Amino acid sequence: MATASSRYLRYILFAVFGLLVVYFLSSSSIPNTIHRPTGYFSTPSTEQVAVHDGPPPEKAPSNPLHKAPEPEEGSKLDTTGTTPNLAPEFPSAAAGGPRMNATFVTLARNSDVWELARSIRHVEDRFNEKYHYDWVFLNNEEFSEEFKKVTTNLVSGKTHYGLIPVDHWSFPDFIDQEKAEAVREEMKNKKIIYGDSISYRHMCRYESGFFFRHELMNKFEWYWRVEPSIELYCDIDYDPFKFMADNKKKYSFVLSLFEYVETIPTLWDSVKTFMSKHPEHIAEGNALGWLSDDEGDTYNHCHFWSNFEIGNLNWLRSKAYLDYFNSLDRDGGFFYERWGDAPVHSIAAALMLKQDEIHFFNDIAYYHVPFTHCPTGEDYRLKHKCHCEPGKNFDWKSYSCTTKWFDVTGLQKPDGWEKEV
Ligand SMILES: *[C@@H]1O[C@H](CO)[C@@H](O)[C@H](O)[C@H]1NC(C)=O
Repeated sequence: MATASSRYLRYILFAVFGLLVVYFLSSSSIPNTIHRPTGYFSTPSTEQVAVHDGPPPEKAPSNPLHKAPEPEEGSKLDTTGTTPNLAPEFPSAAAGGPRMNATFVTLARNSDVWELARSIRHVEDRFNEKYHYDWVFLNNEEFSEEFKKVTTNLVSGKTHYGLIPVDHWSFPDFIDQEKAEAVREEMKNKKIIYGDSISYRHMCRYESGFFFRHELMNKFEWYWRVEPSIELYCDIDYDPFKFMADNKKKYSFVLSLFEYVETIPTLWDSVKTFMSKHPEHIAEGNALGWLSDDEGDTYNHCHFWSNFEIGNLNWLRSKAYLDYFNSLDRDGGFFYERWGDAPVHSIAAALMLKQDEIHFFNDIAYYHVPFTHCPTGEDYRLKHKCHCEPGKNFDWKSYSCTTKWFDVTGLQKPDGWEKEV
């Protein structure tokens, strides 16, 4: 008996104690606002806007079961720490600071979609998820629904899909088709990479002279070129577009190297013709010394690797650049040889810009088969969570032209470069 009643007593004491705990917790002054869920709402234009601080906005879930809660009635939207992506034209970046008039741009075929998906994922994870810049995709055929669905879903900014006009992707009437065909046959026999390809030539010519005047690109001032299968190895926690604007840069690179001579035997002759026809376009303080070891007589084949570029579109649309492109185009080397857009852009930049309008982004760690740019300097790599192998850095190797760039422009090489030669 006695044991049973003392057990009851223990139960009652426990129950009273439990009730007291519940009472104290519920009436305490801990603000319940910290339990508010992070929520999003969609504007009709499908742009997403963060209404609370917290992680950067992501695509609003479309599954109705996962519908985000509506903001509480009467509660003021708490935007501390974020800048809402509101303005229809150029909303300010979520990472703060003014948003630039800029876009990513990619020339791609439908079949590139999965290789490109990897690139987009890298760009978003390392940079754009904080900034939400737009992305323009260009193709000489209509983009497939799958291509659009996959890429729109991955890009955190707005996506735009453009068809390339036929006359920007075909033989101009001044090109002798038979002569061009004979060259392709010859290059095929010499086993020159893409030597017999027509589409590769259209692509090089398009990147050299047309992408920046596509109607979708006319709306922008800055571009960042991205190709399929690239990687970014470090966090980029500032806006390179803004850096370019603030520092009056027009063109930039991460990798440079020597061009395959067989593809451009007469390119430099064409450039010299242009220089004598248009001396007014040659900039004072240019980087001719980086292109030529004999004051312009011959080309040393150095070029910036243009599959990565951040640059100014208004420069490419300038009379100087267009005079240059038209002059080269008329000489026919895009079809009678196999001129690449890399030497074409690089020569233009080195001759028609001042040296300090061209920027080397040591801090943008980049891979495009087969070369790696891994930032020199362990401190930087650790701080920016880089995952590239420093020993793979191509910058100071003998086949790179980056050492020469530093020497010609008088820049100081980053600490530790000697260890990576
Ligand atoms: C962006 O730049 C382009 C090209 O310079 C210009 O036409 C356009 O008006 C600019 N847009 C804004 C919003 O400033």
